[in-house]
Amino acid sequence: MSRLTSPTSSTVGQKILVACTGLLLCGFLVVHLAGNLLLFVGPEAYNAYAHKLHSYEPLVKVAEVVLFLLFASHIVLAVRLSIRNRRARGSAYAMSVSKRDDRILGVRLDYWMLPTGLVVLAFLLLHLVDFTWELRPDVTYAELEPYEKALALLTSWPTIVGYSVGTIILGAHLLHGAPSLLQTLGINHPRYNKCIKLLGGLFAVVIALGFFSLVLWANWFEHGGGHG
Ligand code: HEM
Repeated sequence: MSRLTSPTSSTVGQKILVACTGLLLCGFLVVHLAGNLLLFVGPEAYNAYAHKLHSYEPLVKVAEVVLFLLFASHIVLAVRLSIRNRRARGSAYAMSVSKRDDRILGVRLDYWMLPTGLVVLAFLLLHLVDFTWELRPDVTYAELEPYEKALALLTSWPTIVGYSVGTIILGAHLLHGAPSLLQTLGINHPRYNKCIKLLGGLFAVVIALGFFSLVLWANWFEHGGGHG
């Protein structure tokens, strides 16, 4: 396969792979948010969901490996693309890998894809320490059911700060990323581009606010609001 067409070495191929992995990660976010919104329903629903998920242990392990590969390839390819693009243009500002010119308050969102992506990565590591690897010394994991564990973590200061920043920055990342990946995958048309941009933006806001609402809810609940 020539360098021009190889998906991992050509710029176009890399862009398509970043878009494909990004799309699959967006799918994961939707499923993950839907599962965690069961916290709003109550301990029975959330614990039943968490225990059911863990009862498919081999499938969960496969999903974890797939997720890891998706995150790793998305990050490595996107960073490589940004560096290559920056070198090609010879400017510290030229981090953009997109032809889109989305702006908020005059700021070009595509210039911020690398920094916001790195913040999301830092958030993700904190999140895995909290929930998956269970490494927080201030939480007595063994005694807690999934619902209590989520509540204990979401009301602790490192998590409140980390998740608030993390979910808002995730929203900023998706605000450009979601419509941009559709464009890269050829889902665009001059007649519908405004609509696609709007839907991508809406997706970003719903995902960011959805996860952030769990942090807000847990703290409101903890301070008596949810105890009737
Ligand atoms: C307040 C928001 C969130 C809550 C309450 C939450 C909750 C959880 C829980 C309960 C687990 C499973 C841990 C286990 O039992 O093994 C988990 C895993 C995970 N979460 Fe989240 N999550 C949140 C936000 C996010 C966000 C925004 C992302 C992505 C940017 C994310 C990515 C992941 C990943 C990659 C895993 C590992 C999957 C696995 O171990 O099976 N989470 N989360």
